[in-house]
Amino acid sequence: MNNTIPPAKDRPSPLDYDPALSGNYPFLAVDHYINDLFVPEDDAVKTATAAIEAAGIPDASITSNQGFFLQLLARLVRANRILELGTFGGYSTIWLAKSLPGKGRLITMEFNPVHAALAATNIKAAGLDDIVEIRIGRALDLLPALQQESPEPFDMIFIDADKPPYTEYFQWALQFSRPGTLLIFDNVIREGLILDPHITDEAVKGVQRLNKALASDPAVMATIIPSIGLKKFDGMAIAVVK
Ligand code: DHB
Ligand code: MG
Repeated sequence: MNNTIPPAKDRPSPLDYDPALSGNYPFLAVDHYINDLFVPEDDAVKTATAAIEAAGIPDASITSNQGFFLQLLARLVRANRILELGTFGGYSTIWLAKSLPGKGRLITMEFNPVHAALAATNIKAAGLDDIVEIRIGRALDLLPALQQESPEPFDMIFIDADKPPYTEYFQWALQFSRPGTLLIFDNVIREGLILDPHITDEAVKGVQRLNKALASDPAVMATIIPSIGLKKFDGMAIAVVK
């Protein structure tokens, strides 16, 4: 087995990258290994997973390992108030809401009313509808409306919505933050396509722009944690507001 990856100058473009060069590593089995060893998938999580699968909507939920990781981060920052952009079927919402203490609160925003309805059902089935508020609409409309309410700053903000406006979501997230607020952005590696400066895919361009903004904005300290496993090769950006 030859796992030698050629130097960048010999790789024409990430688009032409040969996955065979990454060798025969057991990425999926390792994801399952971590899941089996560490991750308690309770009935609420299993029920939501089954409902999202049955709904036949795209496979865009985070994995159980990632949900547990988000829960661990929420606990690390002692989150009481969480904001989520991109509810989708409510899977990550459930993981995050479960991390909250009794008086905790989670606001989540979703553009697609079908996804929002599915999420509402899943969140209710999980017994989390007292903690979670779903707001339906474009986040870029809902965020100014939220600002009008002068909410307390959020402790953690998870961004997993449409990718082209990720940088605008970042700027909004700063409006709802205090020093120490944790910002997490899903899908910022996109199977390495972010390496391609000529890419035309708007989703990839959106995360390229975000990654540059995170790296250069003095308001945050940020980096990216790449991941490989059930969600192929991707990663989350993690930032703390200074
Ligand atoms: C896509 C979006 C996601 O949030 C994700 O986790 C995976 C894929 C997408 O839009 O392609
Ligand atoms: Mg995502």
